[in-house]
Amino acid sequence: MENIDWSSLSFGYMKTDYNVRCYYRNGKWGELEVSSEETITMHMAATCLHYGQEAFEGMKAFRGKDGKIRLFRMDENAKRMNRSCQGVVMAELPQELFEAAVIKAVKMNERFVPPYESGASLYIRPLVIGLGAQVGVKPAPEYLFIVFVTPVGPYFKEGFKPTKMAIFRDYDRAAPLGTGTIKVGGNYAAGMIPTVKAHDMGYSAAIFLDAKEKKYIDEAGPANFFAIKDNTYITPESSSILPSITNKSLMQVAQDLGLKVERRPVAEEELATFEEAGACGTAAVISPISEIDDLENNKQYIISKDGKPGPWCEKLYHELRAIQYGDKPDTHGWVTIL
Ligand code: COI
Repeated sequence: MENIDWSSLSFGYMKTDYNVRCYYRNGKWGELEVSSEETITMHMAATCLHYGQEAFEGMKAFRGKDGKIRLFRMDENAKRMNRSCQGVVMAELPQELFEAAVIKAVKMNERFVPPYESGASLYIRPLVIGLGAQVGVKPAPEYLFIVFVTPVGPYFKEGFKPTKMAIFRDYDRAAPLGTGTIKVGGNYAAGMIPTVKAHDMGYSAAIFLDAKEKKYIDEAGPANFFAIKDNTYITPESSSILPSITNKSLMQVAQDLGLKVERRPVAEEELATFEEAGACGTAAVISPISEIDDLENNKQYIISKDGKPGPWCEKLYHELRAIQYGDKPDTHGWVTIL
């Protein structure tokens, strides 16, 4: 794909050659099918359209210096996808089926895996949707599992540069006992108004507070929040945060680099004490945060005074990338080489 300008890719959709599909009918998953169609046909009464019976994942494939393609923590994505399916009463998706479909989709679109050091990677989007005619609120009779891929650049247009984020107190992303901990489209729909408002006001994302007390930091837009203080990596614990696989990995990497790790509720006021902060996720990787504004309360928390990523954000970012691209030994067994 020599005619793709890899280094100028943003986080968007580009047509690739194939996607992989699998139908669940009559109580069982069928065979993996390969398709070059970008569209799907479904009944207008499908539960994914009306009742949000849908779940998705986000993963990336990286091309190393050795030319080999690496997948990062695919087993974790498989498990989370299954938890998400269970969370909206969809058919269980076996880990082997998930992994086989992901590997097939990546291998069949190998020419779209960006070169080493291009700043881009291949984003993998597995999804499961409820199909079949159903008007009553109950689980679908059939499901479709799809894996498509698309080469992407940075999620936040600033890349690895600190960005400003804003708290919008008038909106909640997810209820304490709701669907916040699973990866379903409804969570992202619920966050759409504050996200659009944030972008319109020049912020890269909306920070969501816990829905019950409006006191604690929950999510940083489509990513998890983390901060650094006193040689400690701190990330919020809450019953409505999506457990990010990148965050889980960063907690381990932070420990490997000699930081302490704390996963605990993080009150908004504590923002004033952080030396560094960032948003982390598969799409975002690490996006350092320079400033967080609590708009309704007229408060401003300046985290990066010089507009540069802090030293720990730098170290964590480079360490994680080195593992993902194969520049460092995969001591935790996180990488699948294709
Ligand atoms: C990811 O980080 O992979 C996500 O799914 C977040 C977002 C693009 C919705």
